[in-house]
Amino acid sequence: MERSPIHIEDVPPIGGALPAPEDTPIVVVDDEPSVLSFLRKVLEAEGYPVETFESAQEAFTRISQAGVALLIADIVLPDMGGMELVRRSLEEDPSLSVLILTGAADTESAVESLRLGVDDYLQKPISADDLIVSVARALRHRAQADYRDKLETWLRSEVTRRTEEVQRRSQELELVTVATLSTLVRAMEAKDPYLKGHSERIASLCGRMARHLGFDARDIEDVRTAGLLHDIGMIAVPESILHTEGELSEEEYRQVKEHVEIAANILEPLSHIARAVSYIRCHHERLDGSGYPRGLRGSDIPLAAQIVGLAEYYGSLTERRPHRRAYSAVEALETVRASRDVWFEARVMDALEQVVSSEPELVEPEPELPGPD
Ligand SMILES: [Fe+2]
Repeated sequence: MERSPIHIEDVPPIGGALPAPEDTPIVVVDDEPSVLSFLRKVLEAEGYPVETFESAQEAFTRISQAGVALLIADIVLPDMGGMELVRRSLEEDPSLSVLILTGAADTESAVESLRLGVDDYLQKPISADDLIVSVARALRHRAQADYRDKLETWLRSEVTRRTEEVQRRSQELELVTVATLSTLVRAMEAKDPYLKGHSERIASLCGRMARHLGFDARDIEDVRTAGLLHDIGMIAVPESILHTEGELSEEEYRQVKEHVEIAANILEPLSHIARAVSYIRCHHERLDGSGYPRGLRGSDIPLAAQIVGLAEYYGSLTERRPHRRAYSAVEALETVRASRDVWFEARVMDALEQVVSSEPELVEPEPELPGPD
């Protein structure tokens, strides 16, 4: 798949998205008019928009209207304590920068300031230079935090968007892969009068059994894919063996059994159908350990693999072979029932019985196929 790196030009102009400075004033609150006028003069000389208040309540009302960049507050105020103003203001706007400027510094308020996340705790009298440095630092922190927030939001939405894109592409790739491989299987089966349409029929049966067993749409598709490609490994088994009319020799049977590992090896690189491949790898395993290639037992065999195994067993019986006629659905069911709880779990067998009894036309042999009666 073509890689799609995140280019720096994809990142939105976050700095430009910040509010204009004139919309984000510095609010100064102090009960001494001389202090207010000093602070206003220094800050406006630096180009900052400033709004001054002698009342904490009025300052809070202004902050509640949003858009304030920085609060510079005295601790001792007539109507509301400065620390209370800071606490309420930060609750209202957590992105607000705050400087405490007090003439009565004490440990308690300094600790409280730290706890509230105040940017700086300054003492009066303060020089214009020190004030400017503190204000610039606090506003820089605010801008950085704002940038981080916006970047995080953008990254989160970008990750979601790209994850959805990858999932969509993966589904497309899976469809194309399965379609390509099923074409190959169809071409392979078309040459063989006994196998024509075999994989399509098994896939259809697998899908219906999986649905009956309560699999969700995604899992049903995986089981269907496994059914469609389960015998792709037969491509490596000599035709002379596939068309043998009598019993297979031990060596011939060994070669037939290899179709499972061969299929798994062919399909292994296709990681997007990995689950289907894992079912194919186990579709000849049997509950009692008599299967192949690994002789797995019981719950070590995925339910989905049992579905493919039983669908293949039943489906093959309903198809003609060089040495026998096709079984009817009733005959085939009677035959496979002997393997209930021995090769296949009862619930898998029940699913087959239900599907066959409700939709027999899906699994009946094709009458025009050649073969002995
Ligand atoms: Fe098989």
